[in-house]
Order: sequence, then structure tokens, then C-alpha cells
Amino acid sequence: MVPEAQTLLDSSRPLFNRIAVIGLGLIGGSVAAAARHSGLAGEVLAADSRPEELALGADLGIIDGYGSIAEIVTGADLVVIAVPVRATVPVLEEAKPHLSADAIVTDVGSTKGSFVQAVQEVFGTWPPRVIPGHPIAGSEKSGVRAARADLFADHKVILTPPDQADAEAVDRLTALWSAFGATVLTMAVTDHDEVLAATSHLPHLIAFSLVDTLAGEEQNMEIFRYAAGGFRDFTRIAASDPVMWHDIFLSNREAVLRVIDHFTEDLANLRQAIEDQDGAALLRVFTRAQAARNHFSRMLSGQAYVTDMTQKPVRFRLQPGGKVTGDVRVPGDKSISHRSIMLGALAHGITEVEGFLEGEDSLATVQAFRDMGVTIEGPENGRVRIHGVGLHGLQPPRGPIYLGNSGTGMRLFCGLLAAQAFDTELSGDDSLSRRPMNRVAEPLRAMGSVIETEEGGRPPLKIRGGNRLSGIHYDMPVASAQVKSCLLLAGLYADGMTSVHEPAPTRDHTERMLEGFGYHVHRDGATVSVIGGGELTACHIDVPSDISSAAFLMVAATIAEGSDLTLRHVGMNPTRTGIINILKLMGADIEVFNEQEIGGEPVADLRVRSAQLRGIEIPEEQVPLAIDEFPVLFIAATCAEGRTVLRGAEELRVKESDRIQVMADGLRAVGVETTVTPDGIIIDGGQTITGGELDSHSDHRIAMSFAVASLRATGEIVINDCANVATSFPGFVELATEVGIRIRSEEK
Ligand code: S3P
Repeated sequence: MVPEAQTLLDSSRPLFNRIAVIGLGLIGGSVAAAARHSGLAGEVLAADSRPEELALGADLGIIDGYGSIAEIVTGADLVVIAVPVRATVPVLEEAKPHLSADAIVTDVGSTKGSFVQAVQEVFGTWPPRVIPGHPIAGSEKSGVRAARADLFADHKVILTPPDQADAEAVDRLTALWSAFGATVLTMAVTDHDEVLAATSHLPHLIAFSLVDTLAGEEQNMEIFRYAAGGFRDFTRIAASDPVMWHDIFLSNREAVLRVIDHFTEDLANLRQAIEDQDGAALLRVFTRAQAARNHFSRMLSGQAYVTDMTQKPVRFRLQPGGKVTGDVRVPGDKSISHRSIMLGALAHGITEVEGFLEGEDSLATVQAFRDMGVTIEGPENGRVRIHGVGLHGLQPPRGPIYLGNSGTGMRLFCGLLAAQAFDTELSGDDSLSRRPMNRVAEPLRAMGSVIETEEGGRPPLKIRGGNRLSGIHYDMPVASAQVKSCLLLAGLYADGMTSVHEPAPTRDHTERMLEGFGYHVHRDGATVSVIGGGELTACHIDVPSDISSAAFLMVAATIAEGSDLTLRHVGMNPTRTGIINILKLMGADIEVFNEQEIGGEPVADLRVRSAQLRGIEIPEEQVPLAIDEFPVLFIAATCAEGRTVLRGAEELRVKESDRIQVMADGLRAVGVETTVTPDGIIIDGGQTITGGELDSHSDHRIAMSFAVASLRATGEIVINDCANVATSFPGFVELATEVGIRIRSEEK
């Protein structure tokens, strides 16, 4: 809740002296019931054209009294219009002469454009204290008898205040809905009507239509007699109030027509696929729909990259101390998981993946390919089957591709989408929307692609299709595997050779995996190249555990006295082992055994025991090899004896957060002073980690690093904004608990 709204609720006076509810049906009645129940209104009065509903409302104790619109509006400081949307104009006309100057007027209708029009028609201009609203909490039931004081709890309420709206009125209304247990969102009127046309209006139309169709079939009695399960679930909403819905469709005509046309076209395609016995087309649509449904369920339950929408931040609370023991396997490698889906989708044949990371970032990559027509089964327990469509088989997505928090996703997609025949748009969450994309857009433009960015090279990115790309040689100014991989993917489509020179070795998973898919990558010292025009052939991929996730537990077992931890099947690609090299230089006790090569990637088991670390000057050539591990290395440095100095790591400032500054701020919050430099940090070890509260800035690796710090803290550590841990390390809290970290996850 916004702080202003909270303050309003904290005051001892009721929020409103008199609430006038016009229209005492399910929603109006529930507003009245919730207002009385919460004690936020001095009195609640109602008006309705149906006297029996008013009498019932009074009998049920939902309202304090009733009267005509003129009577109840007089002296009211909140007027809630809860009539069918087409009745708004006459209601407003009747109320207008009696409204007090300071009254807030709102509505609860399902279409906002029509309410705005009605207000303008009746008032001429926009009165600043009229705030359109819509609680998404209806049901197929109607009438005041169905009203409930808790109808809005855990539901969303959308407010669509115009620019000239009175801010205090918006706060007051937000406070009221929040007190009813709802989550309040604001949106533009047109966005609201488009979204509702698709998510509510179309499903109601289909339900009405389906029941009507079946009722008209010859054996209708038989059909309804045996109708259970699917029919009952699917058509529940066809029992809704016909007048209300007739009003909604007529009021939201344009948006509804657009979505009906879209649906009709898709239904026709499914019909055709059945007629043609085209099982592959059916499987493609059904797997995509099933995945999208799961995706939306996760969104609705408030996980990771939609936390902004759901406003359900996760907080970690850690008790100090403990030791780390056990024998565990952390989830699959994020970099390899992304690439397995990308190359699998672009290959011919079915690629089977095991050990796939079911984290938000790599799932966003799966979803993106589904949006482009690729059938992907799973993931289920880390297994994925990708029905590759070949380098030229992707279909245009229907809308922007949303990549959540994933920088790797965005940069790699940029390369492969630059070469497609169709236009695309890539977007991401707040953190991704701040990250620099010119590093890929500029070389891709040199290859002939057309890419538009927002100011400063930030996402969203608009990528124009239909451009022929030509190979280039590119000298990367920064050591970035994402840039290298992006250009190699574009190079698969380009005329001639694309070669990339890296100033320092960066992770080479793309090169290794391309070879695994039968695509030759030429390596000559620090330069890698591909020649466009080849093909990828499906293969089997075993994704090792992510060394970047293992890193948290390596540091945990090192700094906590009495620890002894085995980590299984960890990816040991030499372009990723900087964390082990640096920790060993600091004196860590890490034993590497069971070394083997699986599907072109080295893996091993690790045994880590506690050790007293000493501060070091981190060798600069190790920086790209440990690029994601510095947040947790800063915790190791804090627990070491002596000074640790990091230089040449300015890249850390443009990761999911500015990892130098955010770590320094977090360390200060738990009692540790550091010196921040433009390209690194100086940490004097041996300081006490006192505990305290800090913010991860939505950065998964910051959150997990401070969870590890708790092992050496003297007090409780509270870490805010941790939902994004699910982007790379699903199950972190459970695994951390299993090995001995005293962590609890709380939803605020
Ligand atoms: C990644 C490369 C690195 C790393 C990121 C994953 C990849 O980024 O930080 O987490 O999968 O290619 P840069 O290449 O930009 O350093």
C-alpha cells in the first residue's frame, strides 16, 4: 500500500463519514458489507431501483439505511456507482445536483472507457475527485443476497485515474480497497479495457455461446444430463447476469471485437488441424497453451519476475551462526540451459535436455520460443524435449517477447532475432530495462540489422526483420560472453564469416554447444568464428550443476566453522572456475574429484571444508572467469584475515544491479565498512558482521550472498526484495536450510 494510504488508515477517524452505494447488487452490496464490517465508514446508505434488494440489504445488516439517489448522495463523502455500465449516465445525472464539493465518486464497472464517456457527458469536464475503478472480484452470482464482506480479499482492484485526478482522492480510495484486503493497481483506461476484453469479456462470451449452442443441439437433454467436469468448469460463468453482460459487450465493443476476431481465427486453425489430421499442429498449440497456463498460474501466485504486478515481495530472515554440511546437487547451469533451448529450437530434430534449470530466466527463454511456434515439452524434473524447427522455421510471435530479469536471454535473442524474416520486440523487468544493450545492437547493426533501443541503448528493443546480414570481424571492447554469443548466433545466418575477438577469455558454452549440434566453430587464440549458412542437428544435452549457484555454498562451507560439504556434478568449464581459483588463492580447502567430461562440458564433484581465508589482490585475469561470483566473494573477503582488493571489475556495475555499490551498501547495513572504487572494491577482513536489514535491489546474487553472510553474523540479517532468487536458484531456501543455513522466507 502507498504510505499515504496507510497513514489515512492509521488515523482514528473513519475514512468516510457517509458512503452512498448506488446499485445494491453483488458488488455494491459487498462494498457496503466490507465498509461496515471494517468500520471505515460512519454510515453506509444505498439506493437501487429494486426496493426488495434495499429491504433485504437492510435486513441482512449490510447497510445502515436506504433512500433515493438524491437522498443518499446528499452529505456523502464517497459515492460508489455499482449499476450495470449502461445505466451510468442517468444515475450520474440524478446524483450530480446533490453531490458535495469534496465527495469522491467512483464506480466498479467492468469497462472504463464507457464510464469516462458517461462522466464527460454529464459533467462536461472531468471533476478531479471522480476516480474510475474496477474490482476484479465478480462471480456468476448476482444480487445483494450473494454479497460478502470478504469478496475483495486477495483480489485486484484496478483504478484508472486520469492525469487531472486529485491525488488525495486516489489515496483515500486506495486506502479503502486495501483495507478490504485487495491489491490496488493503476492503469490507463484503454489498457484496462483491452486487458479485460481478453481476460474476462471473451471468456464470458464463449461460455454464454457454448451453453447456448449445446442447448440448441437435438440431444440437449442428454448433453446436459451427462455434462460434468469440463463442461461444468468451463461454463460456470454462463450463469452470470445477462443485463450486466449485455451492457459490458456493448460498452467495450472495439476491444471485444478485436479479441473475438483473433479467437475466431485461432479456432478455425484448430478446426483445420483436426480436419487435416495434423497432430503436430495440435500438439504445438496445446503444449504452448498448457505452458502458458502454468506460466500465468505462477504469475498469479506471485513468483519472481512479476513481483511488480503482484506486489508480493519476498524477504529472507536469517538467524546468525551455524555450520554447513551434507551432500547436495545445486540446480542446472543457467548459461547452458538458455543455450540448450535456443540451439535445440533452431536445430532439425528433437533435442532432449536433462538437468535443465527450471528458473525464471531459462523458463522465459522456453516461453519465448513457444511464442515463436516451437513445441517444447516439459520441463519436468529437469527434462525438456524440444521439437526443433530449423534455423529458418521460427514463426512471428504475437506480441512483444518478455524476458523477465534475463540479460543473457535478451542479448542472445537479439543476435538470433536480428536475422529473422519478421519483426520482434524484446522487453524485460525493471532491472533488465536499465541494462545496456548497445554492446550488442552496435555490432549487429554493423552486420546489417536494424535495431531500435530506448534512450541510452536500454530495452525494450525493436528488431526489424527481413534484413540480410553479412559477417564481420568484431573486436569486443569488453570481455562479454553474451556479446560473443549474440554475434555467433547472428553469424549462423550471415553471409560469410563472423569472427569475434575477446580481450580476455569468457565462458565458451555457445562454442562448445554449437559443436555438439554439429556446427563447426573455428577457434584461433582469442578469436572465434563461424561461417553462416550451415545447419544444426538435434542432440542430447546433460546440463551440469551451475558453478555460480554452487559458489554460494562453497563460500558458506568455507567461512562457517566445522563445515564439510559435498557438491555433486558441478560444471567445471575452465572459463567458469575463477571462483575456485580465487578461493584457493585465499586459502580455501576445496577438493575436486570425479572429474569427467559430459556432452562437451567438464564436470566434477567438490568437497569443501571450513578454512581460515586470507585477503588477496584478486588477479585481474580471473575477473571474467568469476564475473557472477563477486557478491559472494565479497562475503568471503569480509571473513578473511587482511585486505582484499578487486580491480578491473567495472562490468559488475551493469549486472542485475550495480553489484559493487549494492554490496557495499548491504555490507554497511550489516556493520562492515568497505572502500568502493570505480572498478572494484577494497575490503578489510576481520570486521564483525553485526546483522541488520538490507535491500537486494531485486538482484538474486546479492540476496543469496547475504544469506551466506549470516553464518558469520552476530545478529539477525533481514534481506528485502528476494523474489528474484527464483531466476537462477529455485529451491534455494530449502537447499540452504538442508545444509544448515538458518533461513526463512517470508512473503510481505
Ligand atoms: C553469461 C555471461 C556473463 C554472465 C551472465 C551469463 C552468459 O555476462 O554475467 O550471468 O550466459 O553468457 P557477460 O557476458 O555480459 O559478462
